[in-house]
Amino acid sequence: MKQIWKAGNLLNPTPVVMLSCGAEGEKPNIITLAWAGTVCSEPPMLSVSIRKERFSHHMVQESGEFVVNLVSRELARACDFCGVKSGRDLDKFAACGLTPAPAPGLTLAPLIAESPVNLSCRVEQVLELGSHDMFIGRIMQVSVEESLLNERGGLDLNRAGLIAYSHGEYQALGETLGRFGFSVKKEQ
Ligand SMILES: Cc1cc2nc3c(=O)[nH]c(=O)nc-3n(C[C@H](O)[C@H](O)[C@H](O)COP(=O)(O)O)c2cc1C
Repeated sequence: MKQIWKAGNLLNPTPVVMLSCGAEGEKPNIITLAWAGTVCSEPPMLSVSIRKERFSHHMVQESGEFVVNLVSRELARACDFCGVKSGRDLDKFAACGLTPAPAPGLTLAPLIAESPVNLSCRVEQVLELGSHDMFIGRIMQVSVEESLLNERGGLDLNRAGLIAYSHGEYQALGETLGRFGFSVKKEQ
């Protein structure tokens, strides 16, 4: 038996990312976002949805740039902090002991050095959807921590210890159930 509930956003799990941004004459800032997603492969594009009232909103809007920083277990606490405190009141890089570093391909938004993977993005479109404005970002460059590379130079993202967000909780990824296409792969 299913209960029928009124409409609400129960799409779970979602990624949780730390978006870093910068603007002319302002300290860089970090905002935690769960409303983020991949929207196009070629050209590579993603979306982030930000409420107008967030301090970060004007920085992304005015600079036309942002960095999506993937979140490892080690960053879970800082990730939550950047989602409950505002850059209006404090410097979140300093408060979390995080390091802003130049983001390849961008001029104003820094990347978070402690994050294992950073996606440098330029804003392509803004969609005013309602509670949130959706920024479509074109991924200009990707920075990958070298320790995530295997002997053949390939990316082993399991080494990053990434986390996801599900119904209010930060959860660690871990158990592999299969690889892409495993359902149709012939037994050797
Ligand atoms: C797990 C988590 C996910 C969040 N996702 C979003 C989101 O997708 N969009 C948004 O506008 N705010 C989101 N927030 C809230 C902002 O991160 C929060 O209001 C933050 O303090 C804003 O910072 P700022 O004022 O420095 O921009 C989220 C917060 C948490 C803890």
